[in-house]
Amino acid sequence: MRDGVGAHGELMDGVYRHQRWIYDATRKYYLLGRDRLLDDMRPAEEAHILEIACGTGRNLDRLDQRYPGRTLYGLDISEQMLTTARSKLGKRARLALGNACNFDPVALFGHAAFDHVFLSYCLSMIPDWRAAISEGLMHLAPGGTLHIVDFGDQAGLPAPFKSLLYAWLEQFHVSPRTELSAVLRGLSVQYEVEVEHRDLYRGYAQFARLRRPLRSDGG
Ligand SMILES: C[S@@+](CC[C@H](N)C(=O)[O-])C[C@H]1O[C@@H](n2cnc3c(N)ncnc32)[C@H](O)[C@@H]1O
Repeated sequence: MRDGVGAHGELMDGVYRHQRWIYDATRKYYLLGRDRLLDDMRPAEEAHILEIACGTGRNLDRLDQRYPGRTLYGLDISEQMLTTARSKLGKRARLALGNACNFDPVALFGHAAFDHVFLSYCLSMIPDWRAAISEGLMHLAPGGTLHIVDFGDQAGLPAPFKSLLYAWLEQFHVSPRTELSAVLRGLSVQYEVEVEHRDLYRGYAQFARLRRPLRSDGG
């Protein structure tokens, strides 16, 4: 068992060992809202941006094309996915193996706090997904923003579509986090962050933005 990533890392390696070769080509049809998240980010030129569970590096690659010159970091629990991300991104991003629920960014990247942290279609695959959001918030710089996109509750879509989608997602160990909005409301009090949450595409996906205010002393 590899340090820090354990059984879940092995499970993810199993899911993605072969899938990683076709991941970018296939997921563009159903991981909807990822580009919307990147458009919404609008990072400053000097921004440090961390993707938690970066997978093949698809989003970091897009970010680098859209907003060149930002400092990019990616973390993932699957060495298989990181192998693809490394070959795609080269020196354009610093990548590390780690668990979204508990990681030390100084040890992994030599950097403590990020202007943007984002979680794209990973909370639905992380058993302790609440811990992953808390961990992300802990590494957000004052004035920074945490962004989330993931599967939604499918409430506005026909019931048979929802049943089929949920059954299919289960094959990949994916469970839509239908309580996300309520959990974020709780975290907004605990971490003193401003929270916006909205459904996308009639509930197919959900999007959230959590902003950590600048400290009152201006720091
Ligand atoms: C569906 S992919 C999403 C990849 C990428 N964020 C995207 O939007 O294309 C889910 C990713 O989450 C990673 N993952 C799952 N559980 C994790 C955990 N506990 N810590 C870090 N990464 C995790 C998987 O290895 C996989 O790369």
